[in-house]
Amino acid sequence: LFGYETNKVSGYFEPIQPSKEDELILPKGFKYDVIAAFDDTINAAGDKFGQGSDYNAYFPINGSNEHGLLVNNHEYTNQFLHGEIKDGKMTEEQIKNELYYQGMSVIEVKKEDGTWKMDTSSRYARRINGFTKFELTGPAAGIPALNNATTVTGTFANCSGGVTLWNTVMSCEENFSTTATYANLPQTHYGWVVEIDPFDGNFLRKHTALGRFNHENTAMGIANDGRVVVYMGDDKKDACVYKFVSKNKFVPENGRRNSDLLSEGTLYVANLKSGKWVPVTYEAIAKLLSNEKYKAPAGVSGTRDDLLKKFTSQGDVVTYCHEAALMVGGTPTDRPEDVEISPFDNTIFISHTNNDNHGNIHGHITRIFEKDNDLAATEFDFEIFAAGGRQSGFSSPDNLAFDSNGNLWVVTDMSSSVHNTGVYKTFMNNSLHVIPTSGKDKGVAMQFASGPVECELTGPFFTPDERTLFLSIQHPGEETKDISKPTSMWPHRKGDKIPREAVVAISGFKL
Ligand code: FEO
Ligand code: CA
Ligand code: CA
Ligand code: CA
Repeated sequence: LFGYETNKVSGYFEPIQPSKEDELILPKGFKYDVIAAFDDTINAAGDKFGQGSDYNAYFPINGSNEHGLLVNNHEYTNQFLHGEIKDGKMTEEQIKNELYYQGMSVIEVKKEDGTWKMDTSSRYARRINGFTKFELTGPAAGIPALNNATTVTGTFANCSGGVTLWNTVMSCEENFSTTATYANLPQTHYGWVVEIDPFDGNFLRKHTALGRFNHENTAMGIANDGRVVVYMGDDKKDACVYKFVSKNKFVPENGRRNSDLLSEGTLYVANLKSGKWVPVTYEAIAKLLSNEKYKAPAGVSGTRDDLLKKFTSQGDVVTYCHEAALMVGGTPTDRPEDVEISPFDNTIFISHTNNDNHGNIHGHITRIFEKDNDLAATEFDFEIFAAGGRQSGFSSPDNLAFDSNGNLWVVTDMSSSVHNTGVYKTFMNNSLHVIPTSGKDKGVAMQFASGPVECELTGPFFTPDERTLFLSIQHPGEETKDISKPTSMWPHRKGDKIPREAVVAISGFKL
């Protein structure tokens, strides 16, 4: 038994064994309710829940732990929406669906008679998707590389995210390129961090100061001097870890106006050899390029002349952020996915999911120690906190969430094309693990959940009282070739002919 204890909840769960079953399996005494699934109606207007559920964030209504708004990200679409895509070219109808079913959903949820449900009479429930207009903030707003746009249409490829100190949601545009290509939209309008207010449908921003890359998530904290700090990963092989430090300080009484802090500040990239956060600035790039013999590092293409044309302002630097980061000395890493700040000691945990380019098959979780425990520090040290593999019982860590006792909740993302084969066999279906970050079980992973066939578990998020854990079940049956014969039928709803991605609420955590 794993003694599961937080400041708010205590109890035990018996860790489960890996499983190949087409079911969400939980320890004894826990249960799940399906709150909303792909294509369910979410409001009176008839809007539909999107596909590819990922990040979740819960916002209490009147302080309730059993009634609130749930924000869910929709990362991508698949064959169960589109059917066949002939010759790799989408029809107009398929493009419309592609843009509609990605993005985000805001839904109202409540627990009644022990069961979590969606309230479709909600006045807040709405979709944010490929058709929604956003205001651009920061250095790339209005620049030629974005066709001089100050507003852009649409968000998609919304993977993970984060909650701000002023109670809004940040949502991260990750693998945006395919959708932008299909829909013939400007690539530079996507790959940003989006901010929305679940309670106000008119507040829609993209913050260009946070850089444009394959954004996985954001983790926001506060520096010793009151500035806002945002940690971010670029989920690509050989890509970097970033942090943004605002110029001005957080003022709690200012509420949502603090959002303006995200338009001005310094973007840093981690250099893991020197243990330094290196500013990703136009000044630094211009200085490098002033050397007539300048040669770009691996991962950056183009001659010095090309780069001089590409980088003419800070707006260009944030737009072509990955290249700029490598040029100033950012360290390429093994697919940085989620980043979280420990509520206990301000250390930073990063999932490096895997990278078969150089043999990191099972991934690892890195822990960063900022100098003087100050999130705005420009120097740090780090360790490998936990490594995936047989010894730890998990492979390919992805989203992270902390409970109030410093236990790290880790979901895995072994690609469904490889799981249950080769060295991934022992782990079976993707899973959810609990890893204490202190105490006698520090670093030991206990399995809490096993997902249905070919799914990935995403978006773990606790209610404030930690008696409910929201979780998304993404892409069950993803490897299906013939959609009349799906490889998964989860959530096994009566009358369904396809598997459906869904958000579930897990209960059973005892007081
Ligand atoms: Fe969408 Fe990096 O996971
Ligand atoms: Ca992810
Ligand atoms: Ca992943
Ligand atoms: Ca995913």
